[in-house]
Amino acid sequence: MKSTGGTEAQKRRAGEAAANAVESGMVVGLGTGSTAAHAIRALGEAVESGLDIVGVPTSFGARELAIDCEIPLVGLDEVDGIDLAIDGADQIVLDSGNCIKGGGAAHSREKLVASAADDLHIVVDPTKTIDVLDHTVAVEVLPDAHTVVADAIDSLGGDATLRRASDKDGPVVTDNGNLVCDAEFGRIDEPASLATDLATIPGVVEHGLFVEYATAVSVGSDEGVSTTT
Ligand code: 5RP
Repeated sequence: MKSTGGTEAQKRRAGEAAANAVESGMVVGLGTGSTAAHAIRALGEAVESGLDIVGVPTSFGARELAIDCEIPLVGLDEVDGIDLAIDGADQIVLDSGNCIKGGGAAHSREKLVASAADDLHIVVDPTKTIDVLDHTVAVEVLPDAHTVVADAIDSLGGDATLRRASDKDGPVVTDNGNLVCDAEFGRIDEPASLATDLATIPGVVEHGLFVEYATAVSVGSDEGVSTTT
């Protein structure tokens, strides 16, 4: 998985802290990205030592890794709910837990799993924390809708760019067969109202602003890990 931001050691400490909170009998949402991958690996080791869980992956990548780690998997439609979801973030405000996700274009399923979970434990390195969100917001759109959605984002005061892996590549296609617009809004002082505005644009499948989802945040550092709830 593509790795960004802090060091692998920082991410591993955060991922392992969240994995440590998992108990036998739990249904666990398995997040996407390089930090959540550390939690999945730690859970795989714990399963090998007898931890009895089932996982619900948030992406094709998370599913592949969980299969590799021999974590038993189920579909979201096979369980009554999720006890705990563990996932990364592109940017997070520690005080509120509000965050921006979607760097891996998996935010639609990540939000679905988070919404079905009793708890969402976000795992990040220190480069992800900020006082006011200002990261671009990933917006998954139906393929035909990307120009219409870009115009609507423009009307909200944003500036949308169709995501490509590089200048020479075609658009990034999500696990759901859709496209992603990255919307620049500058400083996001009112994430809740922006979240509502983005969600109501026709053609938008889901956006990466997660407002009031996180119940715990672990930040891995060079010294250790700090967890806020
Ligand atoms: C994928 C995500 C990731 O969780 C987010 O991009 C963080 O990834 P990483 O831990 O690799 O920095 O939202 O859609």
